[in-house]
Amino acid sequence: MTALNRKPLYTESHSGSGYGDRYEAQYAGSGFHSRVWTLEQQILLQVVKATSGAYMDFACGTGRVLSFLEARMQTSTGIDVSAEMLQKARQRVTRSRLLQVNLLEENLDPLPMACLDLITAFRFFLNAEDDLRRTAFACLGSLLAPGGRLVFNIHGNKLSLRAPLVLLYNGFKSLYYAVAKRQPGIFSFRRHLSRRQVLAYLKEAGLVCESTYSYAFIPYPLASLFPERIWRAIETLLVNKRLLFGTHLIFVCRRASTGSSAAVLAGPQ
Ligand SMILES: C[S@@+](CC[C@H](N)C(=O)[O-])C[C@H]1O[C@@H](n2cnc3c(N)ncnc32)[C@H](O)[C@@H]1O
Repeated sequence: MTALNRKPLYTESHSGSGYGDRYEAQYAGSGFHSRVWTLEQQILLQVVKATSGAYMDFACGTGRVLSFLEARMQTSTGIDVSAEMLQKARQRVTRSRLLQVNLLEENLDPLPMACLDLITAFRFFLNAEDDLRRTAFACLGSLLAPGGRLVFNIHGNKLSLRAPLVLLYNGFKSLYYAVAKRQPGIFSFRRHLSRRQVLAYLKEAGLVCESTYSYAFIPYPLASLFPERIWRAIETLLVNKRLLFGTHLIFVCRRASTGSSAAVLAGPQ
């Protein structure tokens, strides 16, 4: 297969010219992504309320999560492979340093931040390939300080209303590609993961899940049928009940055994 017709890798997927602007546009206005982001902010504040120290946002993209949390932490760093995304992040963050790093090629342990109290990784794991997911969980887990937490989300929960909608979507897409004889692009077949699958990745990486939050119970595009006030009331009720069938899941994890600081500082093998 030539480089031209192979399926793009997730690592390359946010690098095209103007991609940062296109990504940001999803969060402009009061559409689904903006609404969901307000729920994520509420949950994040709850999760990090007693957290301070060293923070890293992995796959920080345009700095959405990093800029929201940076003021609460002593030090903060954003890591991403895409120069386009980092360019937008640079306009947004006020005190974080930003590093262009490809997790698959560069080792993160030379960076002076091997004892992180908090790592976030949003909208990364769902669309990353299996080997990238495994590498990322192992690497991020090894960068956590004893007692440090990795907080990440999955924006396609298999056990949510999104799943039947995705089945329908995939059915129509497959038909279209079969008839038009075209190769599906990376986002053509929307992925999903179950909580159980995520817990298996965590176990393999020596991480344990401390708590799980779910949100965005009313999936896209149905959410737009509800006025924002009513949508928010339903979502808040279901989030507070800690039900787990929302379209999105947030996992809060720690290392299973923290080991000695020396082992943590040694970084990923
Ligand atoms: C969907 S964006 C998420 C951005 C941000 N976390 C957010 O939630 O708005 C996923 C990001 O992962 C980054 N990424 C993908 N593969 C990567 C890799 N191997 N190393 C570092 N970053 C990577 C992409 O460049 C992209 O900016």
